[in-house]
This record gives sequence, C-alpha cells and structure tokens, in this order.
Amino acid sequence: MGEDSTQKDYLSVRMDQLRGTGKAISFDLYLKLGVDHFVPVFSKTTGIDYHRLQHYRSKGIFELYIRAADQAAFEQYVSSPLWEQLEQPGLSPERQAALLLSLTEQAVVEAFSELPITEETVRNLAQTLHAYVQTMLKSPTILALMLKLVSRGGASFYHAAAVSVFSLFLGRASGVVEEAELEMLAMGGFLHDIGLVHLPKEIVQKAGALDPAERRMIETHPQVGLEQIKGFEEVPEGVRQIIYQHHERPDGSGYPNGLTSRAISPFIPLVRVADGFTSLVTRQPWRPAYSVGEALRILKEEGGQYDPGWLKLLQKMVWEKG
Ligand SMILES: [Fe+2]
Ligand SMILES: [Fe+2]
Repeated sequence: MGEDSTQKDYLSVRMDQLRGTGKAISFDLYLKLGVDHFVPVFSKTTGIDYHRLQHYRSKGIFELYIRAADQAAFEQYVSSPLWEQLEQPGLSPERQAALLLSLTEQAVVEAFSELPITEETVRNLAQTLHAYVQTMLKSPTILALMLKLVSRGGASFYHAAAVSVFSLFLGRASGVVEEAELEMLAMGGFLHDIGLVHLPKEIVQKAGALDPAERRMIETHPQVGLEQIKGFEEVPEGVRQIIYQHHERPDGSGYPNGLTSRAISPFIPLVRVADGFTSLVTRQPWRPAYSVGEALRILKEEGGQYDPGWLKLLQKMVWEKG
C-alpha cells in the first residue's frame, strides 16, 4: 500500500466525541505515532478502557483515528449516547443499571484523575446525573441494583457514586426535594470530596492515625475542592456549598469554618448522612466495612453530628429496599 492510500485510510476523530458512549465498539480506534504510523489502541474485542483514554488526555493527546471504511459505524456509535439509550422504553432494570454504571465509570475516571477537572468533565457529569435522576424517577427499585454494581469499583468510585446515589434517594424519599434540586444533590454527592484528589495519596489513604499536620492537610479538602470548580457555570451554588460545607457540624465543631446549624446550608445534613453511612459500610485502609445495621447504630450514637430526621429516613430506605 502506498503512502497516499495509507493516509487516506484513516480519519481523525476527537476523543471528546467518545463521552457518554458505551465501551463496546464495532470498529477499531488507532493512535497516530508518526506520519503513516497508526497503532490500534481500542478494538472491537477489547472495547474502550476509560482509564487509558484519560491517560492519553494527560499526555496531551486529544485525537484518535478510525479506518475510513468505519466512518458510518463511528457516526452511528457517537450518535446514540448511553443517556439516550436509557430513555428507550422497556429496558430491563439490569440494563438500565449497567448503562448508568458505564456512564458513572467514565465520569469518575475523568473527575478523579490527576488532571485538573474541566468544564467539559462537569458537563458530562451533569448529563450522567440527569440520567440517574430520570432513571430513578421511572424505576425507584433500581437503588439496590446500582449499589451492587457500584461496589465493584475502586474506593473513590464507590464513594463518589454511592454518596451521590444515597443523597439522591434520600432527597427523593423525603418528598420535599424538587427535581432540579435532586440533580443538584446528585452532583454535590458526587463531587463533595473532589478536593481529596489533589492532596498527597500517602495521607489520604494512610492506614494509621493522622498526626496534627496531616489532619490539617486533610481538612483543607473542602477549600481545595471549591477552588477546582471555580468559574464553572454548570455547577450550581448548592453543589459549591456541599463541597465546601460537608464537614461542618451543627454544634460548630466541624471544619473549615466551624459553622453552626443556622449558618449551614439546608442540604448539608442530608449529604452528611449519606457520606457518613457510605464511609461506614465501605472497607477503609484502617478497618473492615461495617454492616448496614452497625453503620446505622454508629451514626445514631454520634449524637449531634448527624441529623436524626435524615438518619431515620435512611434507615427506612435501606431496610425497605435492601
Ligand atoms: Fe470530605
Ligand atoms: Fe466523603
């Protein structure tokens, strides 16, 4: 094959076009290493690996290539993102949960990578969480399924997705939270610990007790998180408050500002319950996971730290659905 025909054989595609699409592809994707030098990186058999995609972005690579003959297949693929597939009537709950999980995985890989979070990432996340809310409104029983699937991911994946899902369901179960606020809660739950990504891993994942300097470092994560999303128009004010205030306690003993209940924004108690519960039922570097029953008991015994009303609702929700 001559050089001309080789060049013509490949078409460049923007990596951004792959946002919201599924892992399974019916064509191969190539990386261009030099003039006429293309290597396959994602294939029909391997599908797309979101971590590797993010790795390419971190190296400043934003374009991949397809075979010219696959153009129609590629266009078909990017024209039917997962959030649209979710809206098809008659999907089984398992399929809905699997589609949501795939979207979540992409969103988490992007949001929690070493790269600074971008507006594009947040837009993608907003769309994913919109899909959460819509799916939940249609099929409330999806909670148990989501959690089962989500628990297979890594620690930050589990935590972000689980706090998001629990906040969403608590909001929904209360019956007092409006739909736009549900999306805000889902996003706040998802991003609340985003500041931890840029703190030293040795401290964030430390198995032993933290010394005072390390503790002060960890306590900067609400502020660090807030700075990461500064200027992003898609992020509602409520999400900023969740990121910044989720460690404030009603008795004023929290951080970063030691606010008391009146000064703490109204959704914080809900997110704190979701956050505390998720942490307890997850295995941590320093202890095994608690059972659901133990976790609820511990939260109740923390007297004053967690809002009794939201705790009660959580208890009702997990016993009924679990
Ligand atoms: Fe936190
Ligand atoms: Fe958290």
